[in-house]
Formats: sequence, C-alpha cells, structure tokens
Amino acid sequence: MKINEHFLQLKDSYLFATVGRKTTEYKNAHPDRKVIRLSIGDVTRPLAPIVVRAMQRAVEDMGRKETFKGYGPDQYCYGYDVLIDSIKGSYARKGVTLSSDEVFISDGAKSDLGNILDLFSADNTVLIPDPVYPVYVDTNVMAGRRILFADATEENGFLPMPQEGVKADIIYLCSPNNPTGAAYSKEQLRAWVDYANRNDAVILYDAAYEYFVQDEYLARSIYQVEGAEQCAIEFCSYSKTAGFTGVRCGYTIVPTALKRGGASLKRMWARRQSTKFNGVSYITQMGASVVFSEEGEREIAENIGYYRRNAAVIASCLDELGIWYTGGKNSPYIWMKCPDGMQSWAFFDRLLEEANVVGTPGSGFGKNGEGYFRLTAFGTHEDTQEACRRISAMLRRG
Ligand code: MLT
Repeated sequence: MKINEHFLQLKDSYLFATVGRKTTEYKNAHPDRKVIRLSIGDVTRPLAPIVVRAMQRAVEDMGRKETFKGYGPDQYCYGYDVLIDSIKGSYARKGVTLSSDEVFISDGAKSDLGNILDLFSADNTVLIPDPVYPVYVDTNVMAGRRILFADATEENGFLPMPQEGVKADIIYLCSPNNPTGAAYSKEQLRAWVDYANRNDAVILYDAAYEYFVQDEYLARSIYQVEGAEQCAIEFCSYSKTAGFTGVRCGYTIVPTALKRGGASLKRMWARRQSTKFNGVSYITQMGASVVFSEEGEREIAENIGYYRRNAAVIASCLDELGIWYTGGKNSPYIWMKCPDGMQSWAFFDRLLEEANVVGTPGSGFGKNGEGYFRLTAFGTHEDTQEACRRISAMLRRG
C-alpha cells in the first residue's frame, strides 16, 4: 500500500497544537505559575441565556417519544428549517437573499473549509493570502495542490488585491482576517469577484468573524457584492459569534448560480455532505436557531462588546508601550509587531517565560507573519488586564 505522501510535506504539527504543546510543557515544568492564554481564539463567555433555554427545550424533546428526533431532515442535508430560516433572516438584514437549499449546516467553518476541497481537482492552482489561518495551506498541502501566495503586508494594509498576471483556480479570502484583523471593503471585494469571474476561479470566503465588523463600508458577506453568487462559497460559524467553540455549529453558503465545468457546485456539495456527513445534532441546531432572533442578537452583542473591551485594553497597553499593531476594531485579534525586531517564536518564548503569557507567533500564519505576534481578545477581562500588566512590566524592564 501507499500512504498519501503529501502529508510528509506538512509541518510537524498544526500551529495551535504546537502552541498548546509548548504551553503544557512550560506549565508542567512550573506548576506554581499562572499562565494566561491569549493564543488560540477560544471564547470564554458562556452561551447566551436564550440559546441555553432553546437547548434545554430540545433536550426535553429528545426525551419524549412524541417529539424525539433521529437523523435530521434529508431535504437540506440534515439542517432543520427553523435554523435555515434564521440564517436566511440574518442574510436578508445584510441585503442578501438566499434560498433554503443554498444553506448547509455543519459542525463549524474549519471542517467545511477543509472538506470543500473534495469538489475540486488536485490539479487546480490555489491562491492563499500570507499570513492567514493555517487550515487553508495545510489542507491543500495534504491534497498536493500547487499553492501561490498573495502577500499581505503593512504596505497593502494586510489586504492583498488581485493581480492580473497571476492565474489561480481557487482563491481563499478571510475577512475580517485571521490573524491580522484587516477587513475588506465592499469595493475591494468587488475587484476579487470580477477577477474570479473573469478567470473562471472560485473564491472560498471565510466570514467566521463577520459579526465583529463595525464599520459600515466593510463587507459582512461576499454576497453583498454583485456577481459573487457566480463565483463564491461562504463559510460562517457560530463559534466566535455565539460562543459555540465547544458546541460546534456553522453554515456554508453554496449559491445555485455557482457552476464550474458545467456542474452545479451546490449539487456536488449536497452529494458530498449526504455521503460523508450525518448532520449536526438536533440540540445544537435548536440552540443555534435562536442566535439570530432579536433577543439572541441582543445577547450575543453583549458578549461581542465584552471582547471588544478586551481588545481596547490590549490596544491601549500597546499604545502606551509605543508598539505598532493593527486589528482589534473589526476583529477580535490584535496583530502586533514584536518589540526590538524580535522574531515571532523568540518573542513567544520570552513572553511565556518572563510574563507567563501565551500568544500566537505571526510566522505560524505564513512567512509574512515573521516578526509579528497575535493576541486574542477572547480571554476573560481579568486575564486580559493581568496579561497586559505583565507584558508592560516585562517590556519596561527591557
Ligand atoms: C484561531 O485561534 O485562529 C482560531 O480559534 C482557530 C479556529 O477557529 O479554528
């Protein structure tokens, strides 16, 4: 037998697994120290009360023979109408009309971003921003695809734009961006949509952080741009919006108008999902179905506001220290320059050892991330303040 040798091209471990392992090793060696994690974007606010109540009702449904549910409805790949309708409602408020069969419920954006590649030939060329969420690169390396990078730098505001000379079949965009926090305006996205339509390319648009967008001119969905329904698939998640990192639920939009090679990508995705996936639990779907209700949106806005205040605490600490950073306004991530020209992993080690604070080295997101560092605003308020005090004291000591 032969293994998939493309796996041998991957880095030894996934970025957040490496960060986690180093943190655990440090904690085991220093059990007396309180280590604060501002690394992986894992939420700390509990679920909104309306979500908890919906889940409790769903648990009761499951315990009565009259209301018990087995597999989800197969009409929409195991997604319940009530959840799909609420997602359509959230899109309608952004000016986007969807039909129910364009909405696919999943266990989160990460899985779908990897699984969607089943639809595309391994011969395709992929264009991936650098730096960016490492899942895009790793999943394409696993499939042996040719990868081109679009440089995201301070000069272009970490928002690369299409270049006519570059021919790619699959294009990843992440906005608001993980890790830099930069977000595309609708005008900028229009250039990407036109480029994809001209070049017969497909955009895989990761909108996991769209609920953090505050500025009106920024896009909340790629479908706010005309023509995107002919070239883009959008991935969204309840993880950061509604605290579902441990619950697991997301949704992917594959428009009816999106066709390539004479085939409907929506039909291909439905075929893929009904073959390899059995849906998200009823209890989870019922919890998610109230997130975009009026009360749900009010409650999740409170949690998002809490994280925004953390971002402001980190930003003002960096301002006082005179350290360059971006992000934190339309995104939960602060992207800072490592002080004194340090390399990303060297700063990671110093921060862990001297301040007992964990962040994510920018170089883990791509070569252009070298010399940068990502802090997340998803911690508790107390931890964020304490981490900032420690970072300040460490850097003032020099
Ligand atoms: C991150 O820290 O970049 C995210 O939490 C990772 C993820 O959403 O999978």
